[in-house]
Amino acid sequence: MSSGRLEFLARATVAREQAAAIGATLAGMDPWRTLGYQAETLARGLESTHPDLTRYLAMRDGEPQGLVVVRHPWLRGAYIELFAVLPPAQGQGVGRAALEFIESHYRRRTANLWLLVSGFNTGARCFYAKQGFHPVGVIADLVVAGQDEVLMRKVIRPAAGLP
Ligand SMILES: CC(C)(COP(=O)(O)OP(=O)(O)OC[C@H]1O[C@@H](n2cnc3c(N)ncnc32)[C@H](O)[C@@H]1OP(=O)(O)O)[C@@H](O)C(=O)NCCC(=O)NCCS
Repeated sequence: MSSGRLEFLARATVAREQAAAIGATLAGMDPWRTLGYQAETLARGLESTHPDLTRYLAMRDGEPQGLVVVRHPWLRGAYIELFAVLPPAQGQGVGRAALEFIESHYRRRTANLWLLVSGFNTGARCFYAKQGFHPVGVIADLVVAGQDEVLMRKVIRPAAGLP
């Protein structure tokens, strides 16, 4: 286990070499493996730029531990489009720290955090439930036929009402 401090770097894009490495890792692990994502597709997505997307790299001792991609604004909140702790760093509190970081950052700006988690990903669903997310709906056949995606929400600030 690494000992240095965990820090989060906000980036508009992920550099090509790092995107290729992370894409290859994600394509080999669930849920992306079961959903059939290709390493190149994941890497291209990380490299692309969009004004609504921010990539947060969780770093320790100069090494990436995980990655969170956030789309904001999205449905009166921010949508966590990708959330991954790399296998060697799992089970050490990195995921919890990443969600706490995202929540404290976006609480100043918006009211809800949203995400989709695959129905078969029982570990991640349990993890999100522990961090205060609630399922609000099941969407069948969204990514691939025969697999459900569960939409989860965490209210991080009371609704402000209409302007
Ligand atoms: C799911 C994931 C994000 C959790 O991150 P992590 O850094 O391993 O989790 P943490 O060490 O921060 O754990 C925080 C809490 O969640 C629980 N938890 C973490 N993974 C869990 C699992 N697979 N099953 C049940 N509980 C789990 C921990 O026991 C811990 O509970 P505690 O607060 O009672 O001690 C990470 O394992 C991961 O990236 N998995 C593969 C990719 C994935 O599924 N991403 C989500 C896609 S929507």
